[in-house]
Amino acid sequence: RTLDDTGSLVGKTALVRVDFNVPMEDGKVTDDTRLRVALPTIQTLRDAGARVALLAHFDRPKGKVVPSMSLKPVVDDLETLLGAPVRFADDCVGDAAKAAIGDIDAGGVILLENVRFHAGEEANDPAFARQLADLGDLYVNDAFSAAHRAHASTEGLARLLPAYAGESMRRELDALDAALGNPRKPVIGIVGGAKVSTKLDLLKNLVGQLDRLAIGGGMANTFLFAQGIDIGGSLAERDMADTALEIIGEAKAKGCELLLPVDFVVATEVKPGAASRVVMAGQPLSADDKILDAGPATVARLVEALTASKTLIWNGPLGVFEVPPFDTATVAVAHHAAALAQAGVLVAVGGGGDTVSALNHAGVADDMTFVSTAGGAFLEWMEGKPLPGVVALNV
Ligand code: 3PG
Repeated sequence: RTLDDTGSLVGKTALVRVDFNVPMEDGKVTDDTRLRVALPTIQTLRDAGARVALLAHFDRPKGKVVPSMSLKPVVDDLETLLGAPVRFADDCVGDAAKAAIGDIDAGGVILLENVRFHAGEEANDPAFARQLADLGDLYVNDAFSAAHRAHASTEGLARLLPAYAGESMRRELDALDAALGNPRKPVIGIVGGAKVSTKLDLLKNLVGQLDRLAIGGGMANTFLFAQGIDIGGSLAERDMADTALEIIGEAKAKGCELLLPVDFVVATEVKPGAASRVVMAGQPLSADDKILDAGPATVARLVEALTASKTLIWNGPLGVFEVPPFDTATVAVAHHAAALAQAGVLVAVGGGGDTVSALNHAGVADDMTFVSTAGGAFLEWMEGKPLPGVVALNV
């Protein structure tokens, strides 16, 4: 159920779970993306005459009040973005929270203090969920990026009040469905990043669903090493070679074409502008050589594979994109994907951790079909796991 299904909200209080776990430095928000994505839901509820009480977590205070993890610094930014006052309550439950919510007018907005200041939040304690539920008439979950947590404000509360998916949650779920649930075929995945070990379940799930899977970044080195290709002194999980071979075997058995780098950019040091050279896979490397990016032949192959696909799901960079020139492959492939998305011939969805920074670095985040704001939730969804916060909305 979405915000279209709430019926009249005049005089009602909506408890809205948002994800304001934003990057902050010295008490200042340094990236307000997660605040921005919450605006449509907040505005829709305000327009409908509801009082909007925002529930959120920040960082991991582990059930204790940690002043440096207060959500208060978010208020100013949110007011500016919303163009309306936002009140703040020092606690998210109890009489003080109730009184503070009671003080706002219809259409008003209040942010409640970090739900993780209470141990009951992460424990999904029914008594704590009940205390939250006592504050409102309906529950809206707009925090897809926290939906992998079965916590009181993401899961328990959905079972105690009429529960709805907010605008951002709905957009995330629609995009994910278009990318993996019910995609236009052929579907290609690009999975990069440093380690195979953190993405094992994800790779295993994807080879069963995709037509093609390109592996890049440090994790590709483990696959190359497993196949007896010289990777010199590159980052790799050499003890995961057997697992890499298993994934290669599974991909073959399931008809998923695995695209591993056929050439790479090698340097002896990871620093901006470091001297580098292109090496074809299979050529000998020295112990000092580190593979830091995919090479031009690999990029050409990926460009061709993208052109032959109708859907892309992307998680993880292809090289050390933070250190130019080792951003070359990631930027080139991102530009091509975004151009195809803009031309309407590719549904291009990206998300998870570094991916958003990589797409921003390439300057194409806005040109993709959809870029998820989620880190861990996006990965768990790519692993095929049910997300408790989403499951609870559907029951
Ligand atoms: C995130 O930033 O990915 C979410 O807000 C979840 O945060 P968590 O990993 O601390 O649960």
